[in-house]
Amino acid sequence: MQVLEDLEAKGLAELAQATDEALLRLWHGNWLGRTGHVPAALKRVAEIPPQERKAYGQTANRVKETLTGAYEKALEREREAVLDRELQAPPLDPTLPGRNAPRGGLHPSTQTLRRILRVFGDLGYQAYRSREVEDDETNFGLLNMPPHHPARDMWDTFHTTTPGLLLRTHTSPGQIHVMRERAPAPIRVVLPGMCHRYEQITARSEIMFHQVEGLCVGEGITLADLKGTLEVFIRRMFGDSRQMRIRSSYFPFTEPSIEVDMDCMLCGGAGCAVCKHSGWVEILGAGMVHPTVLRNGGYDPARFSGFAFGMGPERITMLLSGIDDIRYFWGNDLRFLGQF
Ligand code: DAH
Repeated sequence: MQVLEDLEAKGLAELAQATDEALLRLWHGNWLGRTGHVPAALKRVAEIPPQERKAYGQTANRVKETLTGAYEKALEREREAVLDRELQAPPLDPTLPGRNAPRGGLHPSTQTLRRILRVFGDLGYQAYRSREVEDDETNFGLLNMPPHHPARDMWDTFHTTTPGLLLRTHTSPGQIHVMRERAPAPIRVVLPGMCHRYEQITARSEIMFHQVEGLCVGEGITLADLKGTLEVFIRRMFGDSRQMRIRSSYFPFTEPSIEVDMDCMLCGGAGCAVCKHSGWVEILGAGMVHPTVLRNGGYDPARFSGFAFGMGPERITMLLSGIDDIRYFWGNDLRFLGQF
């Protein structure tokens, strides 16, 4: 009997030491769990002389009930204390607006580039990446502009310290690389990429900008194919109701050369600042690949013909979104970029 009384006192004393829910549960395991002190004491009833068994059993059961009751009360008290502490802490105001996680996005030029590539992808064109650091021969010479050719003045060039090595001024040298890789197979590719020109930076011209070059080479390709292709491109890019017009132009690597205008989508052709009150905006240069360029690419101009075109995604984005200054593109101003 004394052992049981001591057990009860010890259990209650230890319970008083358990200061949080985890310690309470630990206590419960030690005392009331399957292998705990109290079940062990209950089992010992078998060792008690028969005439004392009843009293021992009753006392042992009372100890069990006392400890169980004390445990449940202690647990309840602990939970209320935790709740009280939470209620007394500074209040959580669930009506406060949340903090937005800033989300990145594609640069407007990239978005336009991807749209352009999608249209030509649907027309069966492959995308081809050409180098940004070019040699003089490919950027100019093989495109029918030998050294000292006056047309080189059309592109002010960043030269590197290595003689003959420069930053490409346009994506047209990519035509040479593709042709030399594929000749004599037919070609339908677009070549997107960055170009550089040693120019004064103004609202209308940057020293770095993207271009997308297009090249189609095969047997029997005509100017009508070029016109039809560009018509599809313009309608897919700018809307079904767009009108286009073709003007005669000059590029050393095409013959004949053309420039393509589209009716101004901002004023619908009535005339505004963007179209300089002409009702038309220029969107690309193009032409039939010059026989010399075909030959430089490994194609016999007696058998093969082709067309090429080049356009500027920044310029196209400016037209699509009414942007009046090309310097925004590399200004890294999130107030501008965030609008796309
Ligand atoms: N490379 C020319 C430029 O940067 C654009 C161009 C014109 C590309 C006519 C072409 C073309 O492929 O046929 O001004």
